[in-house]
Amino acid sequence: MTLDTRLINQQRMPIDDSAELWLFGYGSLIWKAGFDYLERRPAHIEGWARRFWQASHDHRGTPEAPGRVVTLIRQPGALCQGMAYRIGGEVLGGLDIREKNGYLRETTLMHFADGSHAEGLLYLATQNNAAFLGDAPLDTMARQIATAQGPSGPNRDYLLNLATALEDLGADDPHVFALADSVSRMKP
Ligand code: SIN
Repeated sequence: MTLDTRLINQQRMPIDDSAELWLFGYGSLIWKAGFDYLERRPAHIEGWARRFWQASHDHRGTPEAPGRVVTLIRQPGALCQGMAYRIGGEVLGGLDIREKNGYLRETTLMHFADGSHAEGLLYLATQNNAAFLGDAPLDTMARQIATAQGPSGPNRDYLLNLATALEDLGADDPHVFALADSVSRMKP
């Protein structure tokens, strides 16, 4: 099932095109910006864990054979490494389209390596959205990711690109690395 969050996002958190803000990316937004930005800096957020628990019907899968992409799950003590972008508000229209399959605009506190912090916007797919899949055995998730593909390409590329980007950031993410390891062993 799909849910188009474009209108909800513009109503729940209206942001002027002329505004300047930070965006926090934790999935494809780490390794594939696809928009203009003023500055890009590694950052992390606290109390959230990255999980491949969201269905993708429009990018890395289809309505008939959805892929799996990441969302964030509340987890006390967890740390999620990602990428912060300083952007102009006009970028959000395109991002709302890209993240329309269940993701809502939220705000979060981002921490930078130098100890400073800033508020950032992120796209969060909660368990209340129609495309939320939740947990499954590692092998089941890996098989789904290894076989799904959609208009943006194979689901396995999304996972493997994310794993490489997280390695480059020096991030510790056993969930992503275990899935990447499992999918790499499966035939495309
Ligand atoms: C994000 O990257 O921050 C959101 C999820 C995605 O587009 O992969």
